[in-house]
Amino acid sequence: MKIIPSENYDICIGGGSLVHFDFSDYSNLAILVDGNTKEHCLPLLLVQLPSLSNSLIIEIESGEENKNISTCSWIWEELSKHNFDRDSLLINLGGGVIGDMGGFAASTYKRGIDFIQIPTTLLSMADASVGGKLGVNFSGLKNQVGLFKNPKSALIYPKFLETLEKNQLNSGFAEIVKHALIADANLWNQLNTTSFSNVDWEDIIARSIQLKNKIISDDPFEENKRKQLNFGHTFGHAIESYYLEKETPILHGEAVFLGIILELELSNITRQEKSEIKNFILSNFALPHCPPKSEIAKYLTNDKKNQSGKINFSLLSKIGNCSVDNLFSIDEL
Ligand SMILES: NC(=O)c1ccc[n+]([C@@H]2O[C@H](COP(=O)([O-])OP(=O)(O)OC[C@H]3O[C@@H](n4cnc5c(N)ncnc54)[C@H](O)[C@@H]3O)[C@@H](O)[C@H]2O)c1
Repeated sequence: MKIIPSENYDICIGGGSLVHFDFSDYSNLAILVDGNTKEHCLPLLLVQLPSLSNSLIIEIESGEENKNISTCSWIWEELSKHNFDRDSLLINLGGGVIGDMGGFAASTYKRGIDFIQIPTTLLSMADASVGGKLGVNFSGLKNQVGLFKNPKSALIYPKFLETLEKNQLNSGFAEIVKHALIADANLWNQLNTTSFSNVDWEDIIARSIQLKNKIISDDPFEENKRKQLNFGHTFGHAIESYYLEKETPILHGEAVFLGIILELELSNITRQEKSEIKNFILSNFALPHCPPKSEIAKYLTNDKKNQSGKINFSLLSKIGNCSVDNLFSIDEL
């Protein structure tokens, strides 16, 4: 097991990670699951931690469309109904939806109870469970209501990935590729030369989290360096919104891969590096069609990072390095 110390909590990765946390100090325990994590992950968790068998199980419906205030209300009602006091703990067992929403529900219930993250998708293991961004979608806008708060611990157990669908695994890989491209040329070279069917998840997730953890520790509230994590996400979010509005949503990581390919063209790296990255992505991952610029322009011009009417990109300055606040008008794209 690897332990990565973060701001005020530990991120534990690997075989012994689930037993690393002391649950005995809490008056009440609840485990938040969705239908898939209840079926595939809860049994595995309880084998390792039989002492959690008496926990309250709060089950929500899976999917991004349920990451909203009414699901939160229901979580708060369940906690209230079972007399959860301020010394209680919420255990978020699931992907980024469970982690973001469970963390938000816990942090606001009775002005805040403790929570831990037990991520079960590659995206949540390698990215979402770290960094303290919590929240729900509101009024048609993603993550519109939320806050920053760290969990008491993040316990990452890669064995959960064995039941994850291939497209979800691919989606999580996009954030790992992004972390390598913006901050670690060695990791990029390793990814570029390793067979995707033969990945050592524990090692790759640990290295990916270490890179994110370093960036967010230096800039927890996204004043400067943390903006590097937006590489691939300006075009990526516009493409994600386009497909959402068409009611044919695509996965976050699929949009990020398309966003990386488009933002490479704006980056100040060599033509050879651009084609190396593009070939890696296109030969390993089946991606949806990339909409033309005219179809996504309205989302780009409404991006919340825009400054003085210009679109704000984080771009590669070389592989393993990223520059922030690169401004382009829509006509320059
Ligand atoms: N807080 C952050 O920093 C951050 C960063 C990136 C993304 N996010 C958020 O994360 C969310 C996306 O997360 P996600 O991709 O994990 O999606 P998700 O939570 O919807 O999970 C994807 C699907 O996989 C299922 N699932 C989860 N674990 C499983 C397992 N082990 N076996 C089988 N099925 C399993 C889920 O039930 C769901 O159907 C978005 O809401 C996004 O905004 C947050």
